[in-house]
Amino acid sequence: MGLNSCGVMTYKEYLQVLKEHSPYDFSDYSDNSIFRRIQKVMRDHQLSLEELCEKTQGNRYFVEEVVEAITVNTTELFRDPAVWKYLFEKHIPVYRGNNFINVWHAGCSTGQEVYSLLIIFSELGLLDKVRVFATDISQKALDIAKKGVYQHQIDRGCMDNFNTVFENHGSSSLSFSKYFDVDEKNDKISVKPFLKERIKFIRHDLVRNEMPFYNKVDIVFCRNVLIYFNVKLQNRIVQRFYDGLYNNGSLVLGAHEGLSGFFKTKFERQGPIYRKSNTFHLRY
Ligand SMILES: C[S@@+](CC[C@H](N)C(=O)[O-])C[C@H]1O[C@@H](n2cnc3c(N)ncnc32)[C@H](O)[C@@H]1O
Repeated sequence: MGLNSCGVMTYKEYLQVLKEHSPYDFSDYSDNSIFRRIQKVMRDHQLSLEELCEKTQGNRYFVEEVVEAITVNTTELFRDPAVWKYLFEKHIPVYRGNNFINVWHAGCSTGQEVYSLLIIFSELGLLDKVRVFATDISQKALDIAKKGVYQHQIDRGCMDNFNTVFENHGSSSLSFSKYFDVDEKNDKISVKPFLKERIKFIRHDLVRNEMPFYNKVDIVFCRNVLIYFNVKLQNRIVQRFYDGLYNNGSLVLGAHEGLSGFFKTKFERQGPIYRKSNTFHLRY
């Protein structure tokens, strides 16, 4: 499709062009957030929508730039500490009897939440049992996640989050430096290797790809990702999580996300967690 065939475009039409000319499909992302980001790409590159359309066709490097620009990678260690506290005190101990605990962390961004989870497993003495598959569409985010080096974290209150989660923990001497090399002068922290080795980071697009591994999982984390999708796409993805979980497996969503209609009957709410119910249900 050439520029002329694009005619005067709408953002939705641009997303169709992107879908036809790249491996990515953002057509079911919720409108406002994605439109704002496309506008930013146009501003940064000084392109009209038609010019953006033309540049997108046949330039896969530019397509990757667009993908990086329209995905939102905001995250932090122990984001929403009350949820992590619940996971630490009430939920993760449920898996103590398992031989293995498989976790899929979908939309892991730069990895802070993945490391938060591993710290919890470690504090519960379960680190040797856990295997984490952490996935994201953004290669840039995954590269940072793999390195596990974070700038400007100490100032941003992540120490407070950490202390909130573990405030009632028996060993009052639990220290941040057990898990991170801390460079206070440069406000930089580096995850210690023994945590990193429990994780496999994989590039994966929730919209277009099936589950990126064969085995079922005990827990799916997908926090603050579905919020960017419309309800139709949210339901498609939740169906995939449902299929990928063992019975009684858990789904952990973001603080402002929930299950809609039909899926409320397929999961049972326990605090901030959704447990896959055992009962037989027709597929969505
Ligand atoms: C706001 S971050 C959430 C990070 C983390 N889960 C948290 O809650 O702190 C959303 C992440 O979803 C990823 N994402 C967006 N669309 C995706 C898709 N189709 N497949 C996989 N990841 C996607 C983005 O790249 C981004 O890293």
